[in-house]
Amino acid sequence: MTFKNLNITMAFEEKIEVILSIEQHVGQFIDGKMKDPEDSWQPSDFLPDFSDLDFVEKVKVLQESIANVPDSVLVSLIGNMITEEALPSYQTFFNLLEGINDERNVASTRAWARWSRLWTAEENRHGDLLNKYLYLSGRVDMNAVEKSIQRLLHNGIDLQTMGDPYHGLVYTSFQERATKISHVNTGKLAYKSGDAALAKICNIIAGEEALHEKAYKFFMGKIFESDPNGGLSAFVTMMKKKIVMPASLMDLGTKKKQYLNYFNITQKIGIYTSHDYASIIDHLVKFWGIDQLRSLSDDGNRAQDFLLTLADRYYRLAERVQDPSEVQLVWLKKS
Ligand SMILES: [Fe+2]
Ligand SMILES: [Fe+2]
Repeated sequence: MTFKNLNITMAFEEKIEVILSIEQHVGQFIDGKMKDPEDSWQPSDFLPDFSDLDFVEKVKVLQESIANVPDSVLVSLIGNMITEEALPSYQTFFNLLEGINDERNVASTRAWARWSRLWTAEENRHGDLLNKYLYLSGRVDMNAVEKSIQRLLHNGIDLQTMGDPYHGLVYTSFQERATKISHVNTGKLAYKSGDAALAKICNIIAGEEALHEKAYKFFMGKIFESDPNGGLSAFVTMMKKKIVMPASLMDLGTKKKQYLNYFNITQKIGIYTSHDYASIIDHLVKFWGIDQLRSLSDDGNRAQDFLLTLADRYYRLAERVQDPSEVQLVWLKKS
């Protein structure tokens, strides 16, 4: 086994062994929980069909429904959609984690490689559906949005996992929960402002994010069972680096501040906030039973102590966060 770009130590090789040993659980999760494309919803299930005689009427209904959704909610939804559309980067990221696809084969039948494809094949529909819905809404500057998508893919993502699969699984556990929260809250605000169809779309996407969250937490839980010290170290490392949002590099190379504006809006209107960040740490610490881990190394004990008080520290920080007073709206058609 060869490792590139990494400072390989014995401990890292042991991590790869752990990753390979839990492959059977990954396979069981796929077989038990993941749907075949034939049985999955598709974006067209939620969108007017051009071949319908009443297509124009249906688009009119869609536009009337979304008309009262506030600009701030729409901008959050667009940011969520752009994030979803950067999918090629996520599949690349996952396949670059050591031990996930040692065969370097995109059609591998090994469970981790299958998971990578099944996960991203589900995700692909999220961007498709939101993109088409927003396009039909008539309220979005699609050219500006498309530029942001291209720019984000062009710039890549830096999730700060350094190719370490433990880091990658902590990241995805956190991020899938964050994405779920964001879609759920967007759906609630869409419903409140009269767009029940959009609320339904947000909820159905959130349901899949919940499944992905379940998967990643389960996989990471297996790591805590096999290698609690390694798991704790990875959890602490990712918490100290902070979980960066996948779309954070969307403006790199430009003078734009679209990401910052999107980030500020989600905080301001409660779609994804500092309090949510703290609550996710809280949830993961409890879900993985960090307080129950025993017979740890000295480093493991220190990591456990750090993690057990971490959520409270973030809750306190969240209380002091001032919501941005003014937010700039981006990606919308000038009215
Ligand atoms: Fe998604
Ligand atoms: Fe997801």
